[in-house]
This record gives sequence, structure tokens and C-alpha cells, in this order.
Amino acid sequence: MSKTIPDFTVNFKYEASSLFMMKIGIIGCGYIGSMIAKNFKKDVLACYDRNTERMNKLSHILNRDIKCSFEEILKMDLDLVVESASIDAVRNLVPDLLKSGKDVMIMSVGALADHELFSTLKKIASENECRIYIPHGAVGGLDAIRSASFQGIEKIVLTTRKNPEALGMSVLKEKTVFEGYASEAIKKFPKNINVSVALSLASEKEVYVKIIADPSIETNIHEIYVKGAFGKMNLIFENLPSENKRTSILAALSAINLIRTLKSEIVIY
Ligand SMILES: NC(=O)c1ccc[n+]([C@@H]2O[C@H](COP(=O)([O-])OP(=O)(O)OC[C@H]3O[C@@H](n4cnc5c(N)ncnc54)[C@H](O)[C@@H]3O)[C@@H](O)[C@H]2O)c1
Repeated sequence: MSKTIPDFTVNFKYEASSLFMMKIGIIGCGYIGSMIAKNFKKDVLACYDRNTERMNKLSHILNRDIKCSFEEILKMDLDLVVESASIDAVRNLVPDLLKSGKDVMIMSVGALADHELFSTLKKIASENECRIYIPHGAVGGLDAIRSASFQGIEKIVLTTRKNPEALGMSVLKEKTVFEGYASEAIKKFPKNINVSVALSLASEKEVYVKIIADPSIETNIHEIYVKGAFGKMNLIFENLPSENKRTSILAALSAINLIRTLKSEIVIY
């Protein structure tokens, strides 16, 4: 697992001068939270993590103390709160964020495999006139899959191949470690297979998932096959892992791109 890019800031090129300011809070100051802080230094006003060291690290990146309690974040005037923490945080913290009238970006999208939680969050968002944003995460093509879903998707299959270390297991040769539907996959691999739930939401059909532990690879490979009235789609992503081996760099970039879109008068979707 040596091919990681430890750090980066994104070059926004021609759009940079026309980006609007936003007031952003971050829940979860790990890899994705840090990447957002690095790329939107002026916009990030607050952060919360159950690990104080992580909050200090983010404050250090921004050169100002932005650590807050969750209650302080609820009271702040923020345009967007990014959840980049865990499924547990979506379940326990996102409802109150929405009740306080804040738009929320959910990275731990696996939480939404729980249909009851999904409906509750939608209802609270609607009652409080706020939005829940779900970035494409570690795969792409959600836009096309969403469009295709309007005429019905017959079949959607995700095959994910990762190094066993990233899956938190020790396997000496290639082995299929899971086969079944997304809602089961996310219970068994809550930090590894968020993409399956994002794809299920986009397609409005539960994705069939195969997870392969492969010690011969260093990348996180996702292959998506979709068949429907529109025709067929084959998508392959060969992602470099970040410093957090379970998280692909592309997932952090997807959060950065979504914020950039919200800050820009140009929307490329
Ligand atoms: N949508 C996707 O495709 C995709 C891809 C990669 C990662 N993810 C998910 O995004 C999230 C963040 O990923 P990361 O790589 O930055 O993780 P990370 O482990 O580097 O950081 C997560 C941080 O959140 C904090 N945290 C966790 N639960 C918390 C809670 N209940 N309250 C307060 N703080 C809490 C942890 O202390 C940690 O500092 C994870 O849930 C991960 O599974 C989604």
C-alpha cells in the first residue's frame, strides 16, 4: 500500500475568482474533513470531532481555533455542515443539524441503507426547508445512473476489489469475502462499501454487491454494471487509497467538487 498521495490542494483554475463565500462546519476531522479544510480555508468556520486531537489538527491547518462542541455548531449560522465522520454520526447528529435548519452533506452514505433513517432525515429536511447533499464518493456515474433510473433499471451489480488490509482482514490469496445486497454489505463492511448504498439511492434499486479481497492489488477497484431500458453501462474505477487506506482520494475530491459547485455560478453536473 505505498501508492498514496498524502496531501493535496485542488487547483480550481478559471473558476477561482468567481467562487462565492460559504460558512461551513465539519463533523469528523479525519482524512476527508482535513481535505475540505485545506481546500476551503476561508469558508470553514467550525469543526467537531469526538477526538480532540483531530480538531486541533484541523485548527492547525487553518491557523485559527475552530474547534467547537456539537451544541455550539447547532447554534451557529452555517450554510453547510459536512458529515465526514461515521454511520453513527449520521444516525445521532444529522437529525439535529437538519432541525437547526442547516444543509448537510453526508459522506457516510452507508447510513442511508436504513430505510427508516432515510425517511426520517428526508422528512426533517423537508419540514426545515433544508437539503441533504450526497456526493458521488469513491465512484462516478451516479448522474447517468440516476437519469437512467427514470425509465427503470433492471439490474445493477457492483464488484469491489480491495487489498485485504483495507478491508480489515488477513487473506493470503484472492478471495470473495461477500456476495449479496448493499444493505447487508454495509452492515458487514461499514467503512468500505458506502458506494453500494450511493448507487442504490441513485438507481432506486438495491445493488447486488460482490467484495473481493485481493492481496496482489494496492488500489480500490469498483466495477459497476447497469442494465435498463436505456441500454447498458459498464464503469470501472481504479482508485488510489488515501492516507486512510479504506478511503479513496476520489471520495475526498467528490466532497470538494460538490462544495465548489455550491460556491460557483457554473454548475457542471
Ligand atoms: N461516500 C463514499 O464513497 C465514501 C468514501 C470514503 C469514505 N466514506 C466515509 O466518509 C467518512 C469519513 O471518511 P474519512 O476517511 O475522513 O474517515 P477518518 O476515519 O479519517 O475520519 C473520521 C473522523 O470522524 C470522527 N468521528 C467518527 N464518528 C464520530 C461521531 N459520532 N462524532 C464525532 N466524531 C466522529 C473520528 O474521530 C475521525 O476523526 C467515513 O464514514 C467513511 O466511511 C465515504
